[in-house]
Amino acid sequence: MVSTSLPGGTWTLGDLPVTRFGYGAMQLAGPWVMGPPADHGGALAVLRAAVELGITHIDTSEAYGPHVTNQLIREALHPYPDSLHIVTKVGANRDQQGGWPPARDPESLRRSVHENLETLGLEVLDLVNLRLGDAAGPQPGSVAEAFETLVGLQQQGLIRHLGVSNATPEQVAEAQAIAPIVCVQNMYNLAHRQDDELIDALAEQRIAYVPFFPLGGFSPLQSSVLSTVAARLEAAPMSVALAWLLRRSPNILLIPGTSSTTHLRENIAGAALPLSDDDLAELDKIGR
Ligand SMILES: NC(=O)c1ccc[n+]([C@@H]2O[C@H](COP(=O)([O-])OP(=O)(O)OC[C@H]3O[C@@H](n4cnc5c(N)ncnc54)[C@H](OP(=O)(O)O)[C@@H]3O)[C@@H](O)[C@H]2O)c1
Repeated sequence: MVSTSLPGGTWTLGDLPVTRFGYGAMQLAGPWVMGPPADHGGALAVLRAAVELGITHIDTSEAYGPHVTNQLIREALHPYPDSLHIVTKVGANRDQQGGWPPARDPESLRRSVHENLETLGLEVLDLVNLRLGDAAGPQPGSVAEAFETLVGLQQQGLIRHLGVSNATPEQVAEAQAIAPIVCVQNMYNLAHRQDDELIDALAEQRIAYVPFFPLGGFSPLQSSVLSTVAARLEAAPMSVALAWLLRRSPNILLIPGTSSTTHLRENIAGAALPLSDDDLAELDKIGR
């Protein structure tokens, strides 16, 4: 067991205890997640602050930069505290235009797992998500070959736990029929509620749901209802959005992204915002 004063308490990913309030490292790379950060020292400071504030769950990918985010995590935090669990993902590369072409053939997946081990400075990856679909979202199609490749790497001892990302409910079920998963990481927030049923089904199975773009990603969440509720509570809309996610379901883990230590602290404080049943009912109207 770990104890935490972070909002939301803790969750166990497989056998790994983590704080429900985590940190998404994607924003640490350069513009559009390409190249190095403008402020290298600032990026290291955000990562160190996250751990000092008690966060034990950091989300990353070799594709961020590419390589940049993993290298920053290693520079800032290696050797890692035992309590810290770094979650990475494989299944997409970067092209010269900053696109995210799929890379889910067995050879690409094996290479990506080894690159993650190398850049993060680890012998075993705690949790690897198979990133599916494309930039437009989840796309149908079998995941069997790609997921079985990761299961093979898990059996070799290179990966502790597996998850899927940007996945349809059918793909989640297909992966689960092959091997256990401990999380699903899909786009979800106050305004994008397409996974409501999936979240509830995963909660019953004690599987984590980790929303990406919890604050809207590259287009910050905007809603008059959200602004009204936030104004009434004298809070920032982003605080309300994070607090709502923590209340939405106990299996939801937060990985809000930021390149700013100030924003990181604001988000931790904001996620603790108490929401009344009336607030929740009003917020519920946004994405339904
Ligand atoms: N599986 C996938 O396919 C996938 C896709 C996308 C993302 N992800 C993961 O999900 C994580 C979260 O997504 P995200 O970072 O793209 O989007 P996000 O968390 O929804 O939003 C991040 C944006 O919000 C801003 N922000 C954060 N806190 C703020 C605050 N208190 N005040 C004002 N602005 C604030 C950040 O800017 P500042 O830097 O200025 O704070 C950044 O532009 C990523 O870091 C990544 O690890 C996964």
